[in-house]
Amino acid sequence: MAAHMNIQTHDRLLIIDFGSQVTQLIARRLRELNVYCEIHPYQNVTMDFVHKMAPKAVIFSGGPDSVVREGSPRPPQEIFDYGVPILGICYGQQVMMQQLGGKVEGGKISGGGGTAEFGRAYVKPRGEKLAVLDGWFQNDDDHEQVWMSHGDHVSKLAPGFEVYGTSPNAPYAITADVSRNFYAVQFHPEVHHTPNGAKLYENFVRAAGFSGDWTMGAYREEAIRKIREQVGDKQVICGLSGGVDSSVAAVLIHEAIGDQLTCVFVDHGLLRMNEADEVVSMFRDNYNIPLIHADESELFLGELDGVSDPETKRKIIGRLFIDVFQKHANAIEGAEFLAQGTLYPDVIESVSFSGGPSVTIKSHHNVGGLPEKMGLKLVEPLRELFKDEVRALGRELGLPDSFIGRHPFPGPGLAIRCPGEITRQKLEILRKADAVYIDQIRKHGLYNEIWQAFVAILPVRTVGVMGDGRTYDFACALRAVTSVDGMTADYYPYSHEFLGETATRIINEVEGINRVTYDITSKPPGTIEWE
Ligand code: XMP
Repeated sequence: MAAHMNIQTHDRLLIIDFGSQVTQLIARRLRELNVYCEIHPYQNVTMDFVHKMAPKAVIFSGGPDSVVREGSPRPPQEIFDYGVPILGICYGQQVMMQQLGGKVEGGKISGGGGTAEFGRAYVKPRGEKLAVLDGWFQNDDDHEQVWMSHGDHVSKLAPGFEVYGTSPNAPYAITADVSRNFYAVQFHPEVHHTPNGAKLYENFVRAAGFSGDWTMGAYREEAIRKIREQVGDKQVICGLSGGVDSSVAAVLIHEAIGDQLTCVFVDHGLLRMNEADEVVSMFRDNYNIPLIHADESELFLGELDGVSDPETKRKIIGRLFIDVFQKHANAIEGAEFLAQGTLYPDVIESVSFSGGPSVTIKSHHNVGGLPEKMGLKLVEPLRELFKDEVRALGRELGLPDSFIGRHPFPGPGLAIRCPGEITRQKLEILRKADAVYIDQIRKHGLYNEIWQAFVAILPVRTVGVMGDGRTYDFACALRAVTSVDGMTADYYPYSHEFLGETATRIINEVEGINRVTYDITSKPPGTIEWE
């Protein structure tokens, strides 16, 4: 079921996805403007669909194909008669020109003399001032940095279009048919490297008459109404992990249906120091949410005994998690729904026609397949949100900032921060070292600058000297990365003072560690976790 069918009260914008790597960023820019939008792959966008969704404006994304290739992606021709403003980006521009009577030529990507363009470019104004460019060119000598990434180019404008901006390699960098509110640009205004790009989106949605009614307060009320409608008087189960997504989903659903919600918290014995107690006290005591604390650490650690292969660890944990969850959920009388903290990026990824990565780097831990196995229907109240919007909703629901701002923590927990065999002793040492490290980060005011930070305990012992004695203890590695989405990451540039102080504290305060290293690998080529 398409999410848009449920949304009745917001102004809506439709993004037709032609497969660009950065389509999600268009949605980000729009959401930042309090505009509700949805991305749909072009194959799904029929006029029937458009009439049902009733968008107030449409954006065509970029894409990897060439419009001169027969059979390449198109939106329905009638969308140009639908009567709403349209903005075409890159491939989207070329599609517009081609379908409206202009011409596009294939670029010569190699061989010189072509007009293919990749990377930074500068656009200068041409002709009259265009309202959607307000805040761009102040005078004719001005230029704006933009990000280009195209092989083909428009060689003839469609009737009714004028040029409003050019770059050395893109004579039709900015074009528009103002009378119909059609705008088409050759560059990508949604990316970081088009510094003034957000302004273009802002002006576009303003011209399209959006009121900016997509606020978290409104979202919360609507989500609550929808949950009540969907669930009626039935029981709902929610798997709590202690992470932000499942927590926000749980609190929201609890607000909607109260005691019809029971949370199941599977404690696999691979959590951080005090984590289980914190989750239980927050949800059971603070929010009064019925909560089953399934302490299954014996089971998990037992099955992991002697296992050192990373994928085997992940598979064992994933399988046990499902078994255990099922066992506890079955005990809940009359449950018909399973709540999940699925986010919008997961939804888009699963419908993406360009496909996901073809190689499994790591098998991610999730509860996919559970609903079918248990015959449960899904409640996914965060399906329309991005991660930072989930955080905003959490704040709206009164979850403490310290909780909402927490770094991500992987489903398999400390198992993947303990390369080699997992033992209780190593887990104990790891928990203590991690707690000291995080305390250091907080004390130095760095926690919110870092995407994720943790300690990994290494499967080697090294020799040291403390006091007058020899030590032979574990080495550990500190990890801290900056990232926007976890897909790529860079190591955090701590000062040497910070690193030195932290190493000293860990060695002094944590028995079992006598050597501390700092991991300065970026992703790629590394991954964030060690396994
Ligand atoms: P990697 O190590 O692949 O991690 O660079 C990227 C992000 O994903 C988290 N991660 C996981 N999260 N289940 C999760 O819920 C998993 O199996 C899992 N493995 C890695 C990791 O902590 C980082 O934020």
